[in-house]
Amino acid sequence: MAVRSTTAQESRVQLNGHQVSLEAIPRHVAVIMDGNGRWAQRKHLPRLAGHRAGTENIRRVVKALSKYGVKVATLYAFSTENWSRPKEEVRGLMEIMGKVIHRESLEFHKQGVRLQHLGRLERLPQQLREAVMKAIELTQKNEVFTLCVAFDYGGRDEIIGAIQRLIADGVPAEAVTADLLSGYLYTGNIPDPDLIIRTAGEMRLSNFLLWQSAYSEYYSTPTLWPDFNEREVEKALLEYQRRQRRFGGLTPVR
Ligand code: IPE
Ligand code: IPE
Ligand code: MG
Repeated sequence: MAVRSTTAQESRVQLNGHQVSLEAIPRHVAVIMDGNGRWAQRKHLPRLAGHRAGTENIRRVVKALSKYGVKVATLYAFSTENWSRPKEEVRGLMEIMGKVIHRESLEFHKQGVRLQHLGRLERLPQQLREAVMKAIELTQKNEVFTLCVAFDYGGRDEIIGAIQRLIADGVPAEAVTADLLSGYLYTGNIPDPDLIIRTAGEMRLSNFLLWQSAYSEYYSTPTLWPDFNEREVEKALLEYQRRQRRFGGLTPVR
């Protein structure tokens, strides 16, 4: 439960009985939603049932993040390497994703959520591509919360694409800076993630936000994605609050 108290001097939320300063709430949380397959396996269900349960969980987690003052969330839903999975699973994932976007985008729109896509659009089946484009257009002026869905996304692929566009634009070598390159990424208008959560226990990035995560805080939990609920969000935010971010300097920065 979060209780918010805001006075002129102080602005704090209660997380799980702990006082948390609102300044220590990450602005951008990115999530590697892993463990759908293991969740299904434990229940003796087909893997696609895990993916269905996983996508059902998106609404719940976005709501919890937004309640605690997070402004941007990025969800890693399908990597450029996930195409190597069995055809049936890939097809099922595309179908589930299309249905979810279709079903949820109006509700997200009503709540002031702006939807953004990170990754390649051109390789997605036409129906899914159109659903994504429609959702982006519908929600483009919303300002309450930004939800980025990384689908057919790969960090290396993103950086290669950015370099190709830089060259195509005729940018001279000496004009290439970190800021300029950042602007050529899918996340050009999005702040870097402050916190990256990975569910299902692995300790790797799996090609997620390679450039943007230079100074992100990492949090890995054994909880499988379909079981990652509001309590789990609270635990991650509390852990984030205990971290000292120094960005190479000696003084912790907030
Ligand atoms: C994450 O769950 C969803 C995608 C990568 C599409 P997984 O499908 O990777 O689940 P596990 O890792 O097999 O449990
Ligand atoms: C990472 O999960 C990608 C997504 C969550 C979309 P994977 O299950 O594909 O990652 P690996 O294969 O365990 O590294
Ligand atoms: Mg996995």
